[in-house]
Amino acid sequence: MASFNLLYATFTLLLALLSSSSTFCFAYPFGWGGGGGGGGGVGVGGGGRRPIGTQTYSGLLPGFYGHSCPQANDIVMSVLERAISKDPRMAASLLRLHFHDCFVQGCDASVLLDDGETFVSEKKSVPNKNSLRGFEVIDEIKSELEEACPETVSCADILALAARGSTVLSGGPSWELPLGRRDSRKASLNGSNKNIPPPNSTIQNLLTFFQRQGLNEVDLVSLSGAHTIGMARCTTFKQRLYNQNGNNQPDSTLERSYYHDLKTVCPKTGGDSNISPLDLASPTTFDNAYFKLILSGKGLLTSDQVLLAGNLGKTMQLVKAFADDRALFFSHFGRSMVKMGNIGPLTGYNGEVRKHCRKVNL
Ligand code: HEM
Ligand SMILES: *[C@@H]1O[C@H](CO)[C@@H](O)[C@H](O)[C@H]1NC(C)=O
Ligand SMILES: *[C@@H]1O[C@H](CO)[C@@H](O)[C@H](O)[C@H]1NC(C)=O
Repeated sequence: MASFNLLYATFTLLLALLSSSSTFCFAYPFGWGGGGGGGGGVGVGGGGRRPIGTQTYSGLLPGFYGHSCPQANDIVMSVLERAISKDPRMAASLLRLHFHDCFVQGCDASVLLDDGETFVSEKKSVPNKNSLRGFEVIDEIKSELEEACPETVSCADILALAARGSTVLSGGPSWELPLGRRDSRKASLNGSNKNIPPPNSTIQNLLTFFQRQGLNEVDLVSLSGAHTIGMARCTTFKQRLYNQNGNNQPDSTLERSYYHDLKTVCPKTGGDSNISPLDLASPTTFDNAYFKLILSGKGLLTSDQVLLAGNLGKTMQLVKAFADDRALFFSHFGRSMVKMGNIGPLTGYNGEVRKHCRKVNL
């Protein structure tokens, strides 16, 4: 055990040295959409193909567990396979968990903490309460990983691996995933209430929320494509059906027959926790149907439809491009997921590797 610890300490030190001194460059796993951390452009219309690009990582490395826990991803995938075959919606719920983690204090597994002595759980925030799912699956992955490689794989990395695995198991793209995030010792209820965009956001609101995290309009559109799987509660789209602009009228950008269908799921009073698919065409398949639906006025949330109806040239173009070209969407989704996954990670000696994802170590 002692020699393992020594080895681990040396390895960590090495990593800390490496990450403070250099920028890592990796070939982007897809044949296009390079351009580095800033986001660059998107191949809309014409010359979509770009040379293989590079990506800047914030001290995280795809091979981080290569020696300390080489089987980490296999363990994650085997638990995911079981969980998703039992409940197909679970893939969506796990993908969303990573998003709600990264937008609050960075990707540090703060979202997984229950109430602590000095902080209140993010699970109680407006966007998360009665909404986030999948905590038991994360616990199961963690307990299998603790058995195989004790005190090694962080809960924040489990969220990132589960998000990728869930995408893959739903038919979506894979990507090279930088790892080495460490777990926070606190959560932020305020941060959760302030930083996660509400479903009735305008296009300007959405851009502002994403810019605050260092994400651009390309990331906004590609990551919104996560809504190609999963469900939303009536309370998140009721405003659109009955009083979108304070005039007791439905949202005029909502397609008529879809509007009538939604009213049966989401009555004017009550029914707040009834659920409807975000992508009614294929709610458990990760494809580009989400963008096609938006083109026909069948985006479920205001935040989905305004990517087109918000009249912002760039997001409109992207919705059309992704509706037209599934491979283009997939490549951008992977790229933007890596960017989102790089938001404010704890590395080196910061944070800890939690033993239980719901509570900080003693
Ligand atoms: C662009 C701003 C976004 C807004 C306003 C938004 C809002 C929402 C809302 C309101 C729900 C339904 C929650 C409920 O009713 O309980 C939802 C579900 C979901 N969101 Fe987002 N979201 C956004 C971006 C994202 C991103 C970036 C991801 C992941 C990369 C994501 C993944 C998901 C998934 C997969 C679901 C379905 C979850 C399930 O079925 O359990 N969303 N989102
Ligand atoms: C969180 O918000 C509450 C009420 O809005 C405020 O009283 C509190 O000081 C805030 N805490 C932090 C850490 O910002
Ligand atoms: C969004 O919903 C919140 C809470 O219901 C409300 O206070 C706010 O005015 C709405 N925003 C827009 C742009 O409709």
